[in-house]
Amino acid sequence: MSHVFQATVPSNIALLKYWGKSCEQSQWPANSSLSITLSDLCTVTKAQRLDASEHQVTVGDELVNREHPLGSKIFKHLDRLQKLSPDYGPLKIDSHNSFPAGCGIASSASGLGALTLACLAAWHQADNFAALEQHGYSLERLSELARLGSGSACRSLHDGFVEWERTETSESQKVKSVYPASHWQLRDTIVLFSDQIKKVGSTEAHRAAWSSPLFAPRLASLHQRLAGMREAIKNQDISILGPLIEQETLEMHSVIMSAEPSVRYFGLETGEFLAWVRQTRERTGIPFYFTLDAGPNVHLIYEDHFHQEVVKLLEQKCPERPLLSDRIGSGPSLTSYDEERSN
Ligand code: PMV
Repeated sequence: MSHVFQATVPSNIALLKYWGKSCEQSQWPANSSLSITLSDLCTVTKAQRLDASEHQVTVGDELVNREHPLGSKIFKHLDRLQKLSPDYGPLKIDSHNSFPAGCGIASSASGLGALTLACLAAWHQADNFAALEQHGYSLERLSELARLGSGSACRSLHDGFVEWERTETSESQKVKSVYPASHWQLRDTIVLFSDQIKKVGSTEAHRAAWSSPLFAPRLASLHQRLAGMREAIKNQDISILGPLIEQETLEMHSVIMSAEPSVRYFGLETGEFLAWVRQTRERTGIPFYFTLDAGPNVHLIYEDHFHQEVVKLLEQKCPERPLLSDRIGSGPSLTSYDEERSN
């Protein structure tokens, strides 16, 4: 009878983006970032010990090996985790996303976060965070390991409003929840413009950031925007937070587009939609604001009590577009079960 360890890790959406790296190897970001952890958009990863010579990995029911397009990041992370102890043997890993991957909905954040948690849980037969901590894996340590797999994954392990502080050295960088999800009920509704895997991955685009003439001035001024966002969150003031979120999004994409090579992650339809959000907000007085990750899909951020009104506006504007509806959430969970009993 084999014991299965299951990690559920939500995605997160950055309000202040992590863009550009000071050190790629240690995933030391060029700037501090601030995100909200989501709730329903998540990755569920199951792991169990396997009597074999290599891991057996399936993602969304598809067998993924080292050569598979999704495989390189996954196996690289597995190799990294396995180096932590000679006792860490091959695992059977099965991962499912509740949303489309690789198109700017931070699937690598939830995916690499869930992979980290599930594997360590299986290796240590630990089905809760306290048990993992006894083996030396505090939330802080787990978050650090997730970060090495995918930068933004480190924020997904924390509750609510999360800050990833760059600090002065790679070793001292910190990730922490600044307010729990219960502090302010924010919504994130995603308008899906594409579910295709993006042509230029974020690793390559992060690298190019330094060549943009806009990057240095961005880094020099970001502390002001971060301070403004912190204050707006503290006061639950969407009229202050919203414009800062939009400015941040447009600035990140300006850096991406003005870098060498220049990348454009969104097309005309998304661009027209962003203009519509601003016009509609002005016309209706409904305070909803856009943000985008490195992809064409638009996240709309607003307070919970405006949800019905926002959805109605979206259904009128783009009835053919799928909407992914989510809200701020409190972070990951870990559980285990006997495989035989579940069948
Ligand atoms: O985690 P990565 O390396 O895929 O970088 C993603 C960066 C953004 O999602 C665009 C911004 C962020 O802070 O999440």
